[in-house]
Amino acid sequence: MPGLLLGDILPDFEAETTNGTIKLHEFLGDSWGILFSHPRDYTPVCTTELGRAARLSSEFSKRGVKMIALSIDCLEDHHGWTKDILAYNCEEESAGSSLPFPIIADSKRELAVALGMLDPVEKDEDGMPLTARCVFIIGPDKRLKLSILYPATTGRNFDEILRVVDSLQITAGRRVATPADWRPGECVMVPPSMTEEEAADLFPDGVYTKDLPSGKKYLRYTPDPQAETELTSVIQTAL
Ligand code: BEZ
Repeated sequence: MPGLLLGDILPDFEAETTNGTIKLHEFLGDSWGILFSHPRDYTPVCTTELGRAARLSSEFSKRGVKMIALSIDCLEDHHGWTKDILAYNCEEESAGSSLPFPIIADSKRELAVALGMLDPVEKDEDGMPLTARCVFIIGPDKRLKLSILYPATTGRNFDEILRVVDSLQITAGRRVATPADWRPGECVMVPPSMTEEEAADLFPDGVYTKDLPSGKKYLRYTPDPQAETELTSVIQTAL
């Protein structure tokens, strides 16, 4: 099965999109990227998802993330459906204009196959597989940093996708990890491979270790190094 593994470089494919022909690497430039596929144009869940993605586009731009969508429908369908998405999801003044990201028309399913985006369970009227709801987050080095795959019947949570972008960006630049449900401003975790001496040097705001029944000192927090919040309150919340 073709597809991508974490750390793979995204192929520099050329594709027809609602904003003209693009080459992926040129489109991404030095930015982060999100490539997300959906099963079909003119379907209900996809309409809510692309609308939500459009409403959050300024949040993705703030984080330096370029967005691009993909499905196996043709450009004509993408353009017609865009009007529905905008009318259903967006304020009246933006309805009728374009989406803030291009949609790739992968009518021959070539990209969907190469990138491992097809869902063998979900089929079109001719029995051909549709694209699943894939989320690929791509780093400025063009490597795959995160991949999530949803079935057609479960719409994505784009707030969660922004949250993982925040985690990927903080962990790309620093030797930290983020705990379950982490949000910017909350304590981050010291990775298990880091010695106490290294951690003390790297985290001048302190390292706080949770006492555990095993006596092992692996649950170590440090305040978010990018946050401006008051330190004692974030530490108390974490511990
Ligand atoms: C939808 O977007 O609503 C959808 C698409 C394909 C299968 C099921 C639901």
